[in-house]
Amino acid sequence: MVWKRTISSKALEKARYASVKVEDKVIFIANVNGTLYGIDAVCSHARCILGELNAQDLTVKCYCHHAVFDLRTGSMIEPPYVAKDAPKEKLGLKTYAVKDNNGWIEVDV
Ligand code: FES
Repeated sequence: MVWKRTISSKALEKARYASVKVEDKVIFIANVNGTLYGIDAVCSHARCILGELNAQDLTVKCYCHHAVFDLRTGSMIEPPYVAKDAPKEKLGLKTYAVKDNNGWIEVDV
């Protein structure tokens, strides 16, 4: 495990979610009622940055063509509207362990 510091816990708690650069990756992190999630922020369809958190469904939507991903598993729930027939299982995203370490959000990369 290689934990990397990102943003302060307070900043994430206030914003609820953020895309952070960690080494050569961009990771979408979210705090949903105190539970932390991390998922690749670069969409597997056409490499847009993910952006819209749905805290009730624990999903995140890509702004570009509205693909929806499960925060817990990285699975694609809804395909991009421009590629409805794309194989969802191949377009899933990697998820990451996220923790609060003394007021800092850390991601295991
Ligand atoms: S780039 Fe994300 S759905 Fe197309």
